[in-house]
Amino acid sequence: MAVFHLPRHVSDVEALKQQAGIAACDFVKDGMKIGLGTGSTVRYTVLELGRRMQEEGLSVVGVPTSEATRELAESLNIPLVPLAEAGVLDLIIDGADEFDSDFALIKGGGGALTREKIVAQSSNAMVVVADDRKQVEILGDFDLPIEVLPFEWKRTADRVAEICPGPVVRRGGDEPFISDNGGYILDCSFGSTITNPSELESALLGIAGVVEVGLFVAICDAVVMAASGGVVTLVKQGGRLA
Ligand code: 5RP
Repeated sequence: MAVFHLPRHVSDVEALKQQAGIAACDFVKDGMKIGLGTGSTVRYTVLELGRRMQEEGLSVVGVPTSEATRELAESLNIPLVPLAEAGVLDLIIDGADEFDSDFALIKGGGGALTREKIVAQSSNAMVVVADDRKQVEILGDFDLPIEVLPFEWKRTADRVAEICPGPVVRRGGDEPFISDNGGYILDCSFGSTITNPSELESALLGIAGVVEVGLFVAICDAVVMAASGGVVTLVKQGGRLA
């Protein structure tokens, strides 16, 4: 089945992000330890958690997946702890650039994929917040982000290029974009061809200099997806939230 997405007005997309971000807070229970993802959609989740803490007495602690999310959470007085102190988290809520029908994800549009995967792998469940433009049949239309060490990164990019079409180093102005970890991001333009994300992830992780790959396979348990017709929660059969 082909998935077509009609162009939307920016304000409509923003409203959908807000709806998805807020609706995902239904998964949050008092006393939970929550991984706080990164991006413009999950930002609304963090804002809503802050509101519920202030107005409704909700009590949670958070582990941020980026410095941007840390700053936002701190501005809302959401208590934060290091992952090592928190132990296993109850839940991570995060955005995604694409998700397929197996709940496999492309992430890293914001460059936070490594911290996001570390926190996601330390969580008992993962909920993704997204608008329906992110739902795809086959991953890869969104360029796949890969974080690499700056040390001899061109050599790493050459080896990545043996597997991935057109790795391009992400730029922040005239210089390479630098992640919160001090890494560079290579964006790889597969087109909608990633039918075996797990195999691709393993192959890329075998290249020295690759820090992390923006493929999240068998990690996501549910997607809270906002579309013009309303918000739906897609729960993975056999997943940890089924
Ligand atoms: C950051 C991410 C984001 O979650 C992803 O890019 C989605 O962001 P947005 O909600 O702004 O579209 O992976 O590294």
